[in-house]
Amino acid sequence: MIWLLKRIPLLLLIVVMALVMSNCTMLGLNYASLATDNKPVPQPPLDVAAFAEDSDRRDALKQAFEDTLYGPWPEGMPVTHGDWRVVDADYLDGRGTLEEVPITIGSGSGARTFRLVAAFPKTPGKSPLVISQTFASNCAAFPGSPVTAADGSICDGSEMGGFVGFLATSIFGTYIAEVPVSRYFDAGLAYASFYASELVPDRNGEAQAVMASMGGPVNPTSALMAWAYGFSAALDVLEADPRIDANHTALMGHSRHGKSALITGVWDRRVDAVIAHQSGFAGAALSRSTTGEGLVRMAKTYPHWLAPTAQDYVEDLSALPVDQHELLALLGPTPVLLGNGRRDVWSDPNSTYRAAQAASAIYQAEGTDGLTRGGMKAYDPSASLAFWLRPGGHSVVSEDIDAFTAFLDAHLGQPQGRESAVQTADCPVGSPTIITEGGAKCP
Ligand code: GCU
Repeated sequence: MIWLLKRIPLLLLIVVMALVMSNCTMLGLNYASLATDNKPVPQPPLDVAAFAEDSDRRDALKQAFEDTLYGPWPEGMPVTHGDWRVVDADYLDGRGTLEEVPITIGSGSGARTFRLVAAFPKTPGKSPLVISQTFASNCAAFPGSPVTAADGSICDGSEMGGFVGFLATSIFGTYIAEVPVSRYFDAGLAYASFYASELVPDRNGEAQAVMASMGGPVNPTSALMAWAYGFSAALDVLEADPRIDANHTALMGHSRHGKSALITGVWDRRVDAVIAHQSGFAGAALSRSTTGEGLVRMAKTYPHWLAPTAQDYVEDLSALPVDQHELLALLGPTPVLLGNGRRDVWSDPNSTYRAAQAASAIYQAEGTDGLTRGGMKAYDPSASLAFWLRPGGHSVVSEDIDAFTAFLDAHLGQPQGRESAVQTADCPVGSPTIITEGGAKCP
């Protein structure tokens, strides 16, 4: 009996882990299939000529995504911001400053304010920038720093401590919440992020009520579109900052925020690169795929992520006039990194790859390379459609950060003569680049 009592915390841990993992990764026991030739070709087919020659085709397709899945892009919704507050003038042993700024979207009493935290490296000239949108609060993203919490208090660093932090990082990876800013600084980048739920809460019912009262002129009807507009508002503020190189900006998001990062890249063409890590359904995975979570299950579990019209297709997916290879095609020629985990079948790496294969023709018609190497395991960070598949599940781990910085380095260029800060390997076609702690290698 005493033996059992002593082990209660451990048993509890195992039960909680199993529950969380079964919800998010289908127990993480499967491997994503690497065979793509034996799977259906994405439907509807992409008309490459129409895409390349006819800008109305793009507008019609964007409209179709708005009418079915995402609701309207909240065009013209006011964005204002307050004063920057220096959180740490000697951030990371003086390598940069950590600052935050309140950004307000909308008008009237329903306008929403969230805090953007930005780390600016102390380097001469303007820095290229990556903006991330997070599940974790700003306290958890910057645990050692006195940033402001959603309730206005100053964070004390405890949020991801103890058992909760241990559990979250054991399941979802070291960097599921905490941001390794020094690694973005090493890559020569400024880094900014915000907590999406501060803008529109990630809760069914509450999210729709908040969006409906944001004060227009056009209100979002899906949290994904609202969060995408949040990315765009962050860009407004940072592109106007003299420390930032406005021509070299990227967006980054994991999972639901990978979905919103992709959407932003389509509706806000200022974005110079997008990292969508494990974006899954309503992101880069094909809605008609029968593997993984599936759009239908996602639409039922998280109805607030999508526009109300999406529920019309839940009973009959074949009636959905769009699929996600078309979203990727609309992003072209903007460089996109699609991050994946081999055991993250829930997000469906296989159909994500097939979506990228189909969209690649549009990238090529637009004069870039698209997917450059054969197969899901070959990572080419310099490809304009870069596909990253590592072992493991639905998480953000150290190798992912290396893959992200290699991609950002390749695509945000070397502004103002900056030397490439990230090592990449020039492997022969067909061989994967392997990214390790020691740098990039060919096998
Ligand atoms: C759930 C959801 C996914 C989503 C993920 C995430 O697992 O089913 O669609 O991508 O949460 O945001 O982590």
